[in-house]
Amino acid sequence: MRKPFVAGNWKMNKTVDQASVLVQELLPGLQAVPEVEKVLCPPFTSLMVLSAQLAETGVGLGAQNLHWEASGAYTGEVSPSMVKEFCNYVIIGHSERRAYFAETDETVNKKLKAALAAGLTPIVCIGESLEEYEAGQTSEVVKRQVLQGFKEIDNAIASQIVVAYEPIWAIGTGKAATSEGANAVHRDFIRPVLASLFGSAIAQSIRILYGGSVTAANAAEYFKTSDIDGALVGGASLKPDFLKIVEAARP
Ligand code: PGA
Repeated sequence: MRKPFVAGNWKMNKTVDQASVLVQELLPGLQAVPEVEKVLCPPFTSLMVLSAQLAETGVGLGAQNLHWEASGAYTGEVSPSMVKEFCNYVIIGHSERRAYFAETDETVNKKLKAALAAGLTPIVCIGESLEEYEAGQTSEVVKRQVLQGFKEIDNAIASQIVVAYEPIWAIGTGKAATSEGANAVHRDFIRPVLASLFGSAIAQSIRILYGGSVTAANAAEYFKTSDIDGALVGGASLKPDFLKIVEAARP
């Protein structure tokens, strides 16, 4: 049994005060759903304050990025141990980072190894572009992203990884993938590649989330499927509506 997992990716939204107010609004509702693993991923600037607010609540805190080096001359970057001071989770390789900040499967792999070594639970994002989708290349793209991004990861820690399948054409567009379509990608492409890397028992234990225009209205459809184990939510995670998505993930 894979425990359902719902994470909110706040992206570049909310000052510390605004973030703290949103947490206050969400917290009682989030705590009422212990059957679901819940994680909030605000900007770096809010991590310190939110880590105090979320301590002992059962609601996890995640960063949206990290650097793979432990320290040094990397202006503007944040190391795994710095993230670990406040967080237990980290998003890696989001398509916006790949598109605007030159992240590749290779940097994803370095970040993934560094995150695991620091004891963080990585949420690794993969997904095809509209062009690739229309050309029927989804399978090929997600396979490549998993094979290269997950290279040289020990079987012993692989089940800690959370995968987020986020077709780029569905992110922030209101054009969500269908639940059948997303589930087929999880079941037929992603899980088999994970099995080829780590064996089928570990592949069966890895949570694979869907992300891309998930809302309170469509969330339940995804969670009914066999291989969608939760959601990575952008826009709808900035509103009290996020609670409805978490509730819909209850097994
Ligand atoms: P969205 O974003 O829910 O706003 O489409 C999802 C994501 O980018 O993680």
